[in-house]
Amino acid sequence: MSAVSKDAKRMTTHTLKRMKDAGEKITMLTAYDYSMATIIDDAGIDVILVGDSASNVMAGHETTLPITLDQMIYHASSVIRGVSKALVVVDLPFGTYQGNSEKALSSAIRIMKESGAHSVKLEGGLEIIDSVKRIVSAGVPVMGHLGLTPQSIYKFGTYTVRAREEEEAKKLIEDATALEEAGVFGIVMEKIPAALATKVTKNVSIPTIGIGAGSGTDGQVLVSHDLFGITKQFNPRFLRRYLDLYSDMKNAVESYIKDVKSSDFPNSKEQY
Ligand code: KIV
Repeated sequence: MSAVSKDAKRMTTHTLKRMKDAGEKITMLTAYDYSMATIIDDAGIDVILVGDSASNVMAGHETTLPITLDQMIYHASSVIRGVSKALVVVDLPFGTYQGNSEKALSSAIRIMKESGAHSVKLEGGLEIIDSVKRIVSAGVPVMGHLGLTPQSIYKFGTYTVRAREEEEAKKLIEDATALEEAGVFGIVMEKIPAALATKVTKNVSIPTIGIGAGSGTDGQVLVSHDLFGITKQFNPRFLRRYLDLYSDMKNAVESYIKDVKSSDFPNSKEQY
């Protein structure tokens, strides 16, 4: 097994391409704050995504639509301060790039300048291709996102698996090709049939990262709060939880309450 990632001092989009070519899987997780980013980076993750899922897991919104560019910049700059190796990708939030490539470029530039992030991610295919091209032409690395694109939830009406039908699958393949031609360095594919994700991965020369898209992609991404078991209500089939932090943290808080109420905390060694 090759380990292109181990030799890299700092992950770049070129390292990710070399990993795809060498058949080394790419790991990606979300982070929204300094402390979480420090842990995830220290563990050796390849890519950290400052996802607009911050709107859900950090702010408690039902969708990703309300989060603003200023809020994404705040999250991204906190993450950047905790990262020394991973490539940091930041989501352009809803309303900052669709239908207006000039606005898209200025949104991407604000993220790069004000947070120090390394790249941006946009949801969509051919319909946002002008925005993608304009950002890429300014020297900003862009990642695509196809399949279930949560910023379009009100168009889809549901968070169910996308591209099961032939027509939507065909469009997804065309979108992936168009994104590659426009210069994206990678594509996230969310909640699509595994066979389709594998087909796209073979079709393009850039890395694909799946979430709910099976094992045939070049890498995997999860929302870290889901992996840690903090978001206990969210239980899709594709999710593997590695901890039950919701219960562990709740138990810790209950113990703290008990200790304070009983005057057990602080004890004589825990004071000055
Ligand atoms: O915002 C996010 O966390 C994402 C991942 C689900 C890929 O876009």
